[in-house]
Amino acid sequence: MNSPVEEIKNRIDIVDFLRFYVELKPAGKNFKARCPFHNEKTPSFMVSPERQTWHCFGSCSEGGDIFKFLMKFENIEFYEALKILAEKAGVELKKISPSDQKQFGILYDINETAKDYFKQRLAQNERPQKYLDERKLKKETIEEFEIGFAPQAYDELTLYLVNLGYDVKDIERAGLNFKSERGNYLDRFRGRIMFPIYNHFGKTVGFSGRILPELDNGEMGKYINSPETPIFNKSKILYGFHKSKNFIREEKNVFLVEGQMDFLMCWQDGIKNAAATSGTALTGDHLKALKRIADNLIFSFDNDEAGLKAAERAIDLANNMDFNVKVLPLKEFKDPAEAVMKKPSFLKSIIKEAKLAMEFYFDAYLKKNESGDFSDDKKNIRAVLAKVKNISSPIERAHWLSELGHKVNIDEKILAEEMNQIKLAPEGQTLNEENFKKINIQTVAGKNRVDMIAKRLIILTLAIGQKLSDEKKCRLFGNLKESIQYLPEKYKEIFELTANEKTSDKPEILNLMESLSLQSSMEIEKLKSDDKAEREFLELLKQLEFEYLKNESEKTAKKIKEAEKKDDKENLEIALKQFDKISKLLHNKQES
Ligand code: CTP
Ligand code: MN
Repeated sequence: MNSPVEEIKNRIDIVDFLRFYVELKPAGKNFKARCPFHNEKTPSFMVSPERQTWHCFGSCSEGGDIFKFLMKFENIEFYEALKILAEKAGVELKKISPSDQKQFGILYDINETAKDYFKQRLAQNERPQKYLDERKLKKETIEEFEIGFAPQAYDELTLYLVNLGYDVKDIERAGLNFKSERGNYLDRFRGRIMFPIYNHFGKTVGFSGRILPELDNGEMGKYINSPETPIFNKSKILYGFHKSKNFIREEKNVFLVEGQMDFLMCWQDGIKNAAATSGTALTGDHLKALKRIADNLIFSFDNDEAGLKAAERAIDLANNMDFNVKVLPLKEFKDPAEAVMKKPSFLKSIIKEAKLAMEFYFDAYLKKNESGDFSDDKKNIRAVLAKVKNISSPIERAHWLSELGHKVNIDEKILAEEMNQIKLAPEGQTLNEENFKKINIQTVAGKNRVDMIAKRLIILTLAIGQKLSDEKKCRLFGNLKESIQYLPEKYKEIFELTANEKTSDKPEILNLMESLSLQSSMEIEKLKSDDKAEREFLELLKQLEFEYLKNESEKTAKKIKEAEKKDDKENLEIALKQFDKISKLLHNKQES
């Protein structure tokens, strides 16, 4: 019997499936679309019905099957994708996949059961109820987000779950207990308010627990979180998102806060387009999930030094992912939760006044001193200048430079001079994942020119084979025959295989062929419009031979050196002759 994964793939055609997500246009025997994972004007997202795969040849350069697509698109783990696709395909999972059920399914079950247990415990305990009441969390919010309580006991939850028949090892895998040094199992969460963490489909995948203040001996963190498990990936999951995503999508705007309490208080105060990071700093994966449904992002960070640091990092990250970024200052309140608690509906009323990121930096760094002047602290001015320097648009940059000049009462020209001296921290670059990729590709291209040429040649050959007239094909491919000898082995093999319409049983070769064949489909349209591709094809053949000769010449030069060292007259003679011959050929090539 087929594995469920294979069975699902047999039943769902990738082209039918992807039509729900992207606009597919035919391209030869393949399809293409604008990549849903990055911004682009010309389509570089290719789909192969033959191989049932997709691949982005743009800046994300990723690819895979329907599983990989869904995981990436919905920001979910494999098992979740499996469940969704199984349902769609009408493949029953539990029956055919006991091992997957044991691996992953049990983790969902345990978290779900633990959630019910924590809810019961909250209902039975007055102390945590009183605490939530003091924090002005309403009953309906507590119920909607299924908040609970973990009693101050060593292993109550573990015993409860074991009594229900769960294996203690699985409970440990779910992150709800751990083995102590003495070898017994202790509950991870004790004496804490329990916030279930939901994945983006609303399944409980972990918890965040806040210590009850009267039990806090300062030994453990104020909050502790479930560890990462196969179903819980902290850097991807946003708290509250499973409920708020439709609101965010509607408004194309997300209000991003730092903690569960901030999120819950905002939600209960009517700010529904919110989400929170929890237990980790904001990541590119969080932002990717948001980017698919929103362009505008309003941050609200804690009103302290740590909050400012977090804000800077987050603003740069979000800017680099093309969000319109704003920041909502909290005035006298320490965080959004406190603002809602002390002054309901205040946040909602000022959210429209959120500041542009640059205004936020001005306010954060350029505080008035006691005599009412802006502090002339050079360090702070330079900090703001660094932010201005980071702006990519020159017009915007000029605008903010002028603003800064007015504000600190310094001539713009002097500020500009100072700004030019600032070296931007490399951090700004590392945050930009795109940039990083580009640099890498360039260096690889430098090193492996022959590889690049060979790939391009195969792509064009395949495209030409599909589209051009027989007469043109004959002429072009005639030239090709001669040049194949200059190709690296693996490309020779690919040429051979494609010419005979065969596939390879080596995965490396097969993957490469698949990728090249998809890329060739993208070229087909270009072939129709002019003869640029033909010229490129001939140019590539020339380059290939040139690179081959260059390489040969380098090898021979090495031989010459070695022979000289060893005083090996005979080989020296041969090598010198060879070198001469290659040099002449190279020279001729450069002339032509
Ligand atoms: N956090 C964490 N571990 C900690 C402290 C904080 O995982 N030791 C996470 C929690 O998700 C928390 C968020 O970071 O909600 C923000 O931290 P903080 O501002 O310290 O918590 P508050 O939300 O203000 O907590 P509270 O209002 O309950 O005091
Ligand atoms: Mn806080």
